[in-house]
Amino acid sequence: MKITVAGAGNVGLVTAVCFAEAGHQVTCLDTQKEKIEMLEKGHIPFFEPGLEPLLEKNLLNGQLCFTTNPNQAYSEADIIFIAVGTPEKKDGAVDVSYIYAAVYTIANTIQKDVIVCTKSTVPVGTNDTIKQIFQQRKPRHIKVDVVSNPEFLREGSAVMDFFLGDRIVIGTDNPKAASIMEQLYLPLKIPILFTDIRSAEMIKYASNAFLATKISFINEISNICDKVGANIEEVSYGMGMDKRIGTSNLQAGIGYGGSCFPKDTKALVQLAGNVHHPFELLESVIKVNQHQHSLLVSKAKEMFGSLKGKKAALLGLAFKPETDDIREAVSLTIIKELLEEGSIITAYDPIAVPNAHKVIGNSIEYTTNIRQALKGADFAVIATEWDQIKHLSLDTYAAYMKEPIVFDGRNCYSLKDMERYPITYVSIGRPTIANVKHSPQH
Ligand code: UDX
Repeated sequence: MKITVAGAGNVGLVTAVCFAEAGHQVTCLDTQKEKIEMLEKGHIPFFEPGLEPLLEKNLLNGQLCFTTNPNQAYSEADIIFIAVGTPEKKDGAVDVSYIYAAVYTIANTIQKDVIVCTKSTVPVGTNDTIKQIFQQRKPRHIKVDVVSNPEFLREGSAVMDFFLGDRIVIGTDNPKAASIMEQLYLPLKIPILFTDIRSAEMIKYASNAFLATKISFINEISNICDKVGANIEEVSYGMGMDKRIGTSNLQAGIGYGGSCFPKDTKALVQLAGNVHHPFELLESVIKVNQHQHSLLVSKAKEMFGSLKGKKAALLGLAFKPETDDIREAVSLTIIKELLEEGSIITAYDPIAVPNAHKVIGNSIEYTTNIRQALKGADFAVIATEWDQIKHLSLDTYAAYMKEPIVFDGRNCYSLKDMERYPITYVSIGRPTIANVKHSPQH
């Protein structure tokens, strides 16, 4: 099938490259000329494991091409995927203007019957508006079927998720469009669920909101564990053994970040509010998450009294490992709060330093060398569970830091291992190890 993907961001590019890999003829359109030029040379503008080799391969074998030209992209397509950004507005609502801009362009450019399929996360009802726009703007003789096909890819494992996802959701009221979408996805051998359009749109929000709820729930349990002397890791393991609960998204930490959970939870609260249904549970999930972001700085303040002039090593800038994405990363809140307290920060990340520098600027120092970050530090804060941090030899802390005090927001190390080192180790929902007596005047 001839497929066009509008938008070469995380979702659009993975979709385009993976459909090309699955044997379809794919054109990927983006309005940013520099991005398209980079992609045509076989380079991806962000870090996503496994994506670049597939991009190069499918460029070379002619399955995939890039363009900024809507005529080239849309006129002959059988299926057009819209995967443009839906950023958050100031009030938490979703900005769907890029979606509608793409829809107007498609309506003005198509020359044959086509399925237009929304991959971007959009508020319930958006695809109905898209249908109306096509009714008003498309040429009369051309038939456009609108389908909602929400995306469940995770950054850092997006290629694997594309080929081995748990389900594909196809929302449409048209049996012919449903059958074409089924043919497209059948070779992936992933269960396909057909729904009406609004339910498909809601499945995406409800799924992300539920996953975020699991995280805030386990984080609240971890805060209680802290107070009653239980160990969150054992609690979480024991809970996950119950198949009704499941093991995923029960990793306690300093909260969720990224381009989806924070945005989608707020959008669902807004959506519910718009139909006069206060979503109190989800509001609490968001509140708990915000509180969790500040947890380690509060603990550091408690320990030191004042953080003014203290040298902090911040380990991990990306919102999670295996990505250079820092959108809504917890590291950003920690940096802001530490700077407000007067700390001096050196931040380590293996790949997210350039993106962080664009946002934070020169108010902190950056390094891609963990030891450099730890050198002379009064304390360290772990914000991302990178392998480089998890596999760091534990004597490094005492060897490089002024005082080996580590606040671990991702429970990277086992307490048993830590107990053997001269270290003060504060983690999430687990007993503190205090093998070094800290002097506040230090
Ligand atoms: C998420 C959804 O998982 C995906 O289905 C959707 O398409 C996009 O949003 P992503 O944001 O890439 O994917 O990352 P994910 O792995 O879900 O992690 C999100 C955040 O939750 C990260 O900050 C991560 O550190 C945090 N998290 C995740 C936890 O704190 N604990 C957990 O147990 C799991």
